[in-house]
Amino acid sequence: MCGIVGYIGTKSAVPILVGGLKRLEYRGYDSAGLALVQGNGKMIVHKCKGRVADLEKLLEGKDSSATIGIAHTRWATHGEPNDCNAHPHISQSGRIALVHNGIIENYRILKEALKAQGYSFNSTTDSEVLVNLIEHIQKSNNCTLLEAVQQATKQVIGAYAVVIIDRENPNQLIAIRQSSPLVIGIGNDDYFISSDAASVIEYTHDFIYLNDGEIAIVGRNEPVRITTADNNSCRVDVSKLQLSISQLEKGGHAHFMLKEIFEQPNTLHDCIRGRIDKATYTPVLSGVRDNRKHFLDARRLIIVACGTSWHAALIGKHFIESFCRIPVEVDYASEFRYRNPIIEANDIVIAISQSGETADTLAAVELAHRCGAFVYGICNAVGSSIARATDSGTYIHVGPEIGVASTKAFTGQVTVLLLLALTIGRERGIVPEDRCKQIAKDLLGLPQVLDSALKQVTPEAKSLAKIFTYAHNFIYMGRGVNYPTALEGALKLKEISYIHAEGYPAAEMKHGPIALIDAEMPCVVIATPDSTYDKTVSNMEEIKSRGGKIVAVVAEGDNLAAEIADYVIVVPRVDECLMPIVASIPLQLLAYYIAVNKGRDVDKPRNLAKSVTVE
Ligand code: AGP
Repeated sequence: MCGIVGYIGTKSAVPILVGGLKRLEYRGYDSAGLALVQGNGKMIVHKCKGRVADLEKLLEGKDSSATIGIAHTRWATHGEPNDCNAHPHISQSGRIALVHNGIIENYRILKEALKAQGYSFNSTTDSEVLVNLIEHIQKSNNCTLLEAVQQATKQVIGAYAVVIIDRENPNQLIAIRQSSPLVIGIGNDDYFISSDAASVIEYTHDFIYLNDGEIAIVGRNEPVRITTADNNSCRVDVSKLQLSISQLEKGGHAHFMLKEIFEQPNTLHDCIRGRIDKATYTPVLSGVRDNRKHFLDARRLIIVACGTSWHAALIGKHFIESFCRIPVEVDYASEFRYRNPIIEANDIVIAISQSGETADTLAAVELAHRCGAFVYGICNAVGSSIARATDSGTYIHVGPEIGVASTKAFTGQVTVLLLLALTIGRERGIVPEDRCKQIAKDLLGLPQVLDSALKQVTPEAKSLAKIFTYAHNFIYMGRGVNYPTALEGALKLKEISYIHAEGYPAAEMKHGPIALIDAEMPCVVIATPDSTYDKTVSNMEEIKSRGGKIVAVVAEGDNLAAEIADYVIVVPRVDECLMPIVASIPLQLLAYYIAVNKGRDVDKPRNLAKSVTVE
């Protein structure tokens, strides 16, 4: 996600800002920039697509005397990664500039209103709308910058952290926090503002943590003042930070993977944000709405992906076939691209890719286009090659996934596929309204469910990991949507612990794999409530009668599968189409803790890359 650094004090701002951005690089980004106000009152902005090192090249030989500035690394959410969309964004008059982390949900409406007032825009970002909104309020009310900021925060909807610099007042920075973290570091005669204390911890360990709805006025040589949109003064509490930089980058977790597992309540909230009308509980994906005819005429969908994204695709097949009654084929992109596929006129090809750079998936997209298909992308990295190669698509908005083993991206992909199936199903008049509303309501509540699931299953996963750390093989099994969930659980284990694990449809056991069952072959069974539950329980009986050891993932209140299993992980009871998301949590944690017990490099497992950009 985006990173923010601000500085005001007596030192040269540039090295502090650039050094801070370097400390934030781990968050993932696609462009970087900074704005300074020089002693002569001139506002200077340097920004570019690319790395912080590219920004440093831009700064070579430039005046670095300014002692106030703001800086930013951008993880694109609205608008391609390019120089123009990079932050800071400057207002039309050039007087104020801002950096922004988060999403302004109602930016389109605000942008149209500002255009009607004569404002023009250089970028396609929501952030440029905000800086011009603040300027417009300030000019039309002839008020102070702080008053304009207070009024603007009453008009914008979304999650954001913002820092503003004003060339006509080079002795203050204004910082706003609304659902996106922002801290103020206190130096000897200077202040450091950042979205993550890690970026400035070398200068201070004393921090003010802004709370939601708070606006900080950070003035040179004066105490920090905190107020609200309604001008109510807030307490200013200073905390001493004990964490190391490395711990901070991982949010206090031991690995990025664990941080990303625990981020899932928030990332699903971000993934769903603005995609379910809370008044009517109707799901709306703009990518589907804008291409309605394609989805109404579609006679077949073909989903191409690799690895974890392919598992998400298998789950998406269940959703789309049951809610839209359109046949869905799921293909490994690497197979699709070489099998001279038959693609008919009304086929839609969907490409799923977290990185948006997987070579096989990109090649599959290009082949699909050559065959005349409409191609829809489900990616995480905005502006990535696959995202740009498709005709339209939906971003999963889970923020950069650093751990090689995919976790939050998987649950984000499954969520988007469910929203896609419901949106198309409604457009085609197939999915019953009450069923659609119920699932939409459950989706809105899902972040809280995941929160409690994480609290509930973490100790269970930790103790099971101790028991199975030295197992040599695992079989994961499930039925229906829980078969791909089993595949994903097996992949998590094998790719970070190096233990061999296979996923199987539970009913397939008797067609061969059951010969493997003995006390040395742990079986993870996803036995959660759905139309095949009783059959899954029978499969568990078959395993038990052959001396197998069963770890069952069951729903709260289960008293049948739980009785049969040797070990039980209980997850919250949710609608069966949400269960792949909820049941994945213990499987992610089980794999993580076993890998940690084995001393593996969890975030960077051997032989693996986060994005397979070669064949
Ligand atoms: C998943 O944990 C792996 N890292 C891998 O299977 C990954 O899902 C696959 O390489 C596809 O990557 P993509 O989603 O970025 O295309």
